[in-house]
Amino acid sequence: MKVTVVGTGYVGLVTGACLAQVGNQVLCVDADADKIARLRAGEVPIHEADLPAMVQEATAGERLGFTTNIAESVAHGDFLFIAVGTPADEDGSADLRQVLAVADDIGRYLARPAIIINKSTVPVGTAVKVRAHIAAALQERAVDVAFDVVANPEFLKEGAAVADFTKPDRIIVGTDSVAAAEQMRALYAPFNRSHDRLMVMDPLSAELTKYAANVMLATKISLMNELAGLAERMGADIEQVRQGIGADPRIGYSFIYPGCGYGGSCFPKDVRALAHSARQYDFDTPLLTAVERVNDRQKGLLERKVVGVLGEDLTGKTIAVWGLAFKANTDDMREAPSRVLMEALWRRGARIQAHDPEALEEALRIYGERYALQLCRDPYAACAGADALVICTEWPQFRSPDFIRMRHSLRRALIVDGRNMYDPATVRAEGFTYLAIGRP
Ligand SMILES: NC(=O)c1ccc[n+]([C@@H]2O[C@H](COP(=O)([O-])OP(=O)(O)OC[C@H]3O[C@@H](n4cnc5c(N)ncnc54)[C@H](O)[C@@H]3O)[C@@H](O)[C@H]2O)c1
Repeated sequence: MKVTVVGTGYVGLVTGACLAQVGNQVLCVDADADKIARLRAGEVPIHEADLPAMVQEATAGERLGFTTNIAESVAHGDFLFIAVGTPADEDGSADLRQVLAVADDIGRYLARPAIIINKSTVPVGTAVKVRAHIAAALQERAVDVAFDVVANPEFLKEGAAVADFTKPDRIIVGTDSVAAAEQMRALYAPFNRSHDRLMVMDPLSAELTKYAANVMLATKISLMNELAGLAERMGADIEQVRQGIGADPRIGYSFIYPGCGYGGSCFPKDVRALAHSARQYDFDTPLLTAVERVNDRQKGLLERKVVGVLGEDLTGKTIAVWGLAFKANTDDMREAPSRVLMEALWRRGARIQAHDPEALEEALRIYGERYALQLCRDPYAACAGADALVICTEWPQFRSPDFIRMRHSLRRALIVDGRNMYDPATVRAEGFTYLAIGRP
C-alpha cells in the first residue's frame, strides 16, 4: 500500500518505519529540511531502540523515502497520516495550527481518493475540522475528490516506540465509514495477527480515548506522589505501600511509582488540554486541575530537598545531576523534571555537572554552552567535587553504581534520589545522607 506520513517526529518516523518494514511504500515528509537531510543520510535524529536499523533497511530497500515536498508526498499516498505536533498554547489548549496547516496542504494537492488519518493527539472534534479544511481547499480548486478522515490516536511510549507500534495493546480507529474502517484494518493487519486488537468507534470517542488514557496515567502518578508526601510526613515508606497496594489486582503494579513528577511531550500538555476543553463545555474538572497541581509541586521537590540540606543560597555550590531525559530510554527533555530542578538551582547560584546516557546533545541544544552547566559523558565525572548528587531519571545504568567511587568523587556524601533507585539502608551504610521520595 502507498502511505504518506506528514511529520517525522517520534510518532511520524516510527509510524513510517514500521509500515515500511512490513512492505508498504512509505514517503515521510517534514517541514524541517535539516531533519529530512539527516534522515536521507541514514541518521535517525531521535534515540529510539531498533529505529535506526529499521530506517536504514527500509530506505535501502526503497520502501521508505524522505522529502520536504508536500505536493509530492500528497500525490504519493492512498493513506495520508498526519503526525505533526500539537503543543500546548498559552491558555493550555492544544495548538492545532500544525494539524490544520497539513489539512490545508492536503486539500491544496489532493487529486485522487484517499484516507486522511490523524495520529496527532487532538481535541475532540478535530476530525470534523480537518475534514472542513480539506473540503474548503478542494472547493477553492473546484476539484471533487472523495476522502475520509479517520481518528487514529497513537499510544506508543518513547523508549519502546517500535515495540509498541508493532505489538500494540489496541488500535483505535475512529470513523463512521465502514469502507474506511475496512481499509484501516487491511493497513494494520500485519500488526494485528495474534488476536484482534483493532477497535472501530466513532471519531469523537476515538479522540477522547487518547486523552482519557493519558490523564488516567498522569492521575496514577500524581496520586502516588501525593501519597508519597504523606508517607514522608507520617514516617511510612511509600515503597512498601506501593507493593502493598500493587498486589491488589484491581490496582496492579504498573504506573504507581512515586518520583519527581511526570514530564515529556504528552502528559503535561494533554492534562492541560483536556481541562481546557472541559472549560469550553462549561464543565468543571477539579480532578484534572489537581493532577496538574500535584505534579507541579512534585517537580519542585528535589530543589526543596537540596535546599533543606545545603541552605537557600547555593552560590559556590556544585550539584551533580544524573538523568536529564524526562524518562529512561529516550533523549527527550520536553517538560523534564531535570529542567525544573536545574533552572531552580541556577537561580540560587549553583553550578550543575550533569550526566545522561543519551540526552547530552539535547541538553546542549536547549541550554547551549554556559558556565553553570557542565555536561559529562561519565557519571562519576559529574560527581567530581559536587556538594550533592540528584537523580532525576530512572536509567537502568544508575541502578547499581559504584558507591565507593561516588563517595570519593563527591565533596559531600549527599544523594537526593528522585526515582527511589536504591535501598536506603544500603546507601546509608555506604556513608551517604540519602533523601528519596516518600521514604522515612
Ligand atoms: N511523542 C510521543 O511519545 C507521542 C505519543 C503518542 C502521541 N503523540 C502525539 O503525536 C503528535 C506528534 O508528536 P511527536 O512527539 O512525534 O512530535 P514532534 O514534535 O517530535 O514531531 C512533529 C514533526 O512535525 C513536523 N511538522 C510540523 N508542521 C509540519 C507541516 N506543516 N508539514 C510537515 N511537517 C511538519 C515538525 O517539523 C516535526 O518534525 C503530537 O500530537 C503528540 O501529542 C506523541
